[in-house]
Amino acid sequence: MKKIILTGDRPTGKLHVGHYVGSLKRRVELQNSGEYDDVFIMIADAQALTDNADNPEKVRQNIIEVALDYLSCGLDPEKATMFIQSQVPELTELSFYYMNLVTVSRLQRNPTVKSEIQMRNFEASIPVGFFTYPISQASDITAFKATTVPVGEDQLPMIEQTREIVHKFNTVYGETLVEPQVLLPDNKACLRLPGIDGKAKMSKSLNNCIYLSDSPEDVRKKVMSMFTDPNHLRVEDPGQVEGNPVFIYLDAFCKDEHFERYLPEYENLDALKAHYTRGGLGDVKVKKFLNKVLQEELEPIRQRRKQWEQDIPAVYKILEEGSKKAEAVAARTLAEVKRAMKINYFEDRELIEAQAKKYREGQSHA
Ligand code: TRP
Repeated sequence: MKKIILTGDRPTGKLHVGHYVGSLKRRVELQNSGEYDDVFIMIADAQALTDNADNPEKVRQNIIEVALDYLSCGLDPEKATMFIQSQVPELTELSFYYMNLVTVSRLQRNPTVKSEIQMRNFEASIPVGFFTYPISQASDITAFKATTVPVGEDQLPMIEQTREIVHKFNTVYGETLVEPQVLLPDNKACLRLPGIDGKAKMSKSLNNCIYLSDSPEDVRKKVMSMFTDPNHLRVEDPGQVEGNPVFIYLDAFCKDEHFERYLPEYENLDALKAHYTRGGLGDVKVKKFLNKVLQEELEPIRQRRKQWEQDIPAVYKILEEGSKKAEAVAARTLAEVKRAMKINYFEDRELIEAQAKKYREGQSHA
């Protein structure tokens, strides 16, 4: 069986370092591994509209931001098909058929939908499109027969729901769709990077993100203002590394070689953590080190972004061509789905002949 990747992001803002360690970095590695027959990366504008119906301009403006972030992280249009969800109408058609295989109560139990409804204060009036977006996500994944979906932990319930839809479809209509596997980041710290304020998640509305496109000075300022252990008041005080955002970021980003380059008095992160825990190590020193580590990782991304920013029409062209390629693949799957469901009337010779026979015989009895 072919090995195929599909994943994507909603274009509601620029991508941040949480996206990077949680998914983007891995995608680039997967793309370059040569292990996959196809890699599809989708800008999920239709999904973004499910909770931004009154603000389509926000979605429209952010498509290029996400595409620039993709390209600057090293996604390569030669190796990965980048496309825009709404430009592949087959996805919507698939969703309409999958809707028959999912119950309202199952959607109500989806933990991601549940928490998002709370976050958006949608309890009283949930848009139907928003409520059913897990079904649309199943279409995104199955249309490409994706075997592997690299995402952050928050997307687990979506993949579970997709697997159920695939199972149900194949049981009712015969083996047609492929059950995908989720691929989570292998580093625990990368599962969910906290905001610079220590809140559980980076979010644009909380203004606690470090963006991939931030200038070196912005990154430095954000790192120096990061929340740390609130009880670590004086340098001599023992500090806590668990749950301390500065150390979580170091867990996610730093390698032993960074110590050689920027902080040679420590052998590795364990040694730095031990000193912090013991007391005698100030936050500023740790933050300065984190800043150097982050700058090193982000600089090549910034440079590539600057280059692509010089040729925006070329970026749209990449998305246009990607969308055409994606549509061709999705159309093939949709045709198989319709055949399995027996709603392919005009190519169904048997049906036409059986009906013809029935009416011929009907007439001969008359
Ligand atoms: N729900 C994802 C997000 O919020 C975006 C997305 C849409 C997606 N369709 C997908 C991710 C299919 C993986 C597979 O970022």
